[in-house]
Amino acid sequence: MLRVVVCVSGGGTNLQAIIDGIAQGAVCNTEIVRVVSNNPGAFALERAKRAGIEAVCVSPKDYRDRELFEEALFACVEEATPDLIVLAGFMVKVPGKMVKRYENRIINIHPALIPAFSGTGYYGLKVHEAALKRGVKITGATVHFVNDGMDEGPIIMQKAVKVYDGDTPETLQKRVMEEAEWVLLPWCINLIAAGQIKVENGRVTVSE
Ligand code: GAR
Repeated sequence: MLRVVVCVSGGGTNLQAIIDGIAQGAVCNTEIVRVVSNNPGAFALERAKRAGIEAVCVSPKDYRDRELFEEALFACVEEATPDLIVLAGFMVKVPGKMVKRYENRIINIHPALIPAFSGTGYYGLKVHEAALKRGVKITGATVHFVNDGMDEGPIIMQKAVKVYDGDTPETLQKRVMEEAEWVLLPWCINLIAAGQIKVENGRVTVSE
């Protein structure tokens, strides 16, 4: 069984896609052992509880400084002894210590085709606002391993989504989630659980 900790900050629709994928058998040999949020108001915490998964909040507001918060976050993840950490709409930069400890064992879903609309400042709706402003005709989502950079780790999988005239950041976000994110993230977790993903020289290969 692949022990997964899912880190969240908001609505948790990607978390839900993983929960559903496991329940429906599309994601095999995988157990979500803990959901961790930095935001006490995240609906994702509620989704976890409804699915019978332990849900924990580690809020920066409860700590004197960033270092103490990062220490608490690290300890909370570590305690669950994960094989894989999934960032599913987690709006916190992963502490360096965690990146080092879980090298090639942390994955993130980003709502654009990296390297487009990625890096510092590109998260959530802002990504789709930027895509519409630039006038791209195709956008999408990317699942990648997390390294010390921002959205810079090895890319595991990408899926393209069309942009339509008249799209708003909200309609585009919805389409990218439905057509790409909720498909890609469970799919990648299943491949990792099956041992089909390898990272060599910063590049990912997927075996049959
Ligand atoms: C998703 O669109 C995810 O790709 C994005 O936040 C949203 C979270 O939604 N993540 C980032 O922007 C990370 N840079 P959710 O809470 O409903 O899964």
